[in-house]
Amino acid sequence: MTPLELRGVEKTYETGSERVRALKGVDVAIEPGEFVSIIGPSGSGKSTMLHILGLLDSPTAGTVLLEGRDVTTLSETERTRARKHSIGFVFQQFYLIDSLTALENVLLPTVYDRDRDATARAESLLDRVGLGDRLDHTPDELSGGQKQRVAIARALINEPAVVLADEPTGNLDRETGTDVLEEFARIRDQGVALVCVTHDELVTEYADRVVEIVDGELR
Ligand SMILES: Nc1ncnc2c1ncn2[C@@H]1O[C@H](COP(=O)(O)OP(=O)(O)O)[C@@H](O)[C@H]1O
Ligand SMILES: [Mg+2]
Repeated sequence: MTPLELRGVEKTYETGSERVRALKGVDVAIEPGEFVSIIGPSGSGKSTMLHILGLLDSPTAGTVLLEGRDVTTLSETERTRARKHSIGFVFQQFYLIDSLTALENVLLPTVYDRDRDATARAESLLDRVGLGDRLDHTPDELSGGQKQRVAIARALINEPAVVLADEPTGNLDRETGTDVLEEFARIRDQGVALVCVTHDELVTEYADRVVEIVDGELR
């Protein structure tokens, strides 16, 4: 089943008297275990597209399908639930909580659930990303690359069908960025679909497919 699909998606922002057509009819299907890189100039609609793929924002027109289910018109509560169980997020700024340990950060998406295996899964995920000996470290005790690997483990804690990343290597040097991309390649090999929005040429070397967006339209 296709993890995530957009059909005829349009997004128009209205601020005061100004209207910005950020997406002008986008069709894209992300297949299982596929690493898709979305590239395009600044302001072309990359983040807008990622937010709609991630059910963080709704399209003005068109359809969003999550694991074959039309999620375009779900209520906010239903959308949040669908997002939590099927989609993981990785951002340029990591968004870790400074006062929590690596393990606690990874567990954060499960705190309101009765999820007895969560701690074991979190430990195993941190081990898998090479941080098995850093469980009790807080973010200020970790390097940039280590922080991003904690964020990757957190994105995977609910075993999502797809992971969405916005400029995940944007705050990392080339070598550390490569480590993170190697990690993404391993995730992809385990059958998780990956969508990565980026300026970084290196990302396109790791992607199975590169989609270019220009002025709200896919090329
Ligand atoms: N919340 C918003 N309100 C109004 N305009 C927005 C908003 N978010 C993005 N835009 C506009 O939509 C267009 C696409 O933005 P964005 O998706 O952030 O592009 P990218 O991520 O490729 O730089 C730009 O013209 C931007 O100014
Ligand atoms: Mg952006």
